[in-house]
Amino acid sequence: MIVLLGPPGSGKGTQGEKLGQEFGFVRLSTGDMLREAARNGTPLGLKAKEYMDKGALVPNDLIINLMKEKIASLGKGTGVIFDGYPRTVEQADALGEIVNVDLALNLDVKDSELVVRLTKRRSCPKCNAVYHLEYNPPAKPGKCGKCGSDLYQRDDDKEETVLNRLKVYRDNTMPLIDYYEKKGKLLTVEGVGSIDEIFEQVKKAVL
Ligand code: AP5
Repeated sequence: MIVLLGPPGSGKGTQGEKLGQEFGFVRLSTGDMLREAARNGTPLGLKAKEYMDKGALVPNDLIINLMKEKIASLGKGTGVIFDGYPRTVEQADALGEIVNVDLALNLDVKDSELVVRLTKRRSCPKCNAVYHLEYNPPAKPGKCGKCGSDLYQRDDDKEETVLNRLKVYRDNTMPLIDYYEKKGKLLTVEGVGSIDEIFEQVKKAVL
């Protein structure tokens, strides 16, 4: 069981997807789950969207219950990459009660780079693939290279919201770096460089 830590835009989704493909892990992204629920107009999705659009965290009880159900639905022995969960100490305690976290992999990237990455990100609403207009552009402009859907800009990728997400990260999620370090589970990888270069470091950390 691997927890991906790191600020918004540090590459958790990008590296998590590659890890899933390479090692056959299931990637559970709370952000992707919540956006899908919002698109489907479920009560949870609509509630979550109020928080997400402001760059705030969705309340712990909603997320913890969602993840408990999701984890319970997986077969025994399934290897999981948690992307975007836990994001608070309360969530980390709740996760620790139901699974044994083997590794917390922290992607370290400075704020100025994060803002550029997020404001120029484009996402696929269908398969959740992510692109960047400069660093990782789709082969056909505006179209997902994996499933052909039209790409879109996430509502929370506007600069003002990005800045709030970075603050929320520092206040609520950064303490998890210490949390997992004290448990001897933390490994930090420099998240700057090409996607493939970083993946080489990520693979070394996992093996
Ligand atoms: P979520 O969807 O989890 O967003 P996030 O954590 O802010 O992370 P991102 O998806 O923005 O970034 P990432 O690290 O995955 O980077 P990516 O690989 O896409 O959460 C969204 C919201 O949902 C939260 O704000 C909150 O409201 C709610 N939520 C979710 N989980 C919650 C929880 N547990 N509790 C409470 N609320 C929760 O890369 C970013 C960009 O950079 C892309 O364009 C990519 O192509 C590019 N890129 C990636 N790597 C590189 C590289 N090496 N060089 C150059 N560009 C790169």
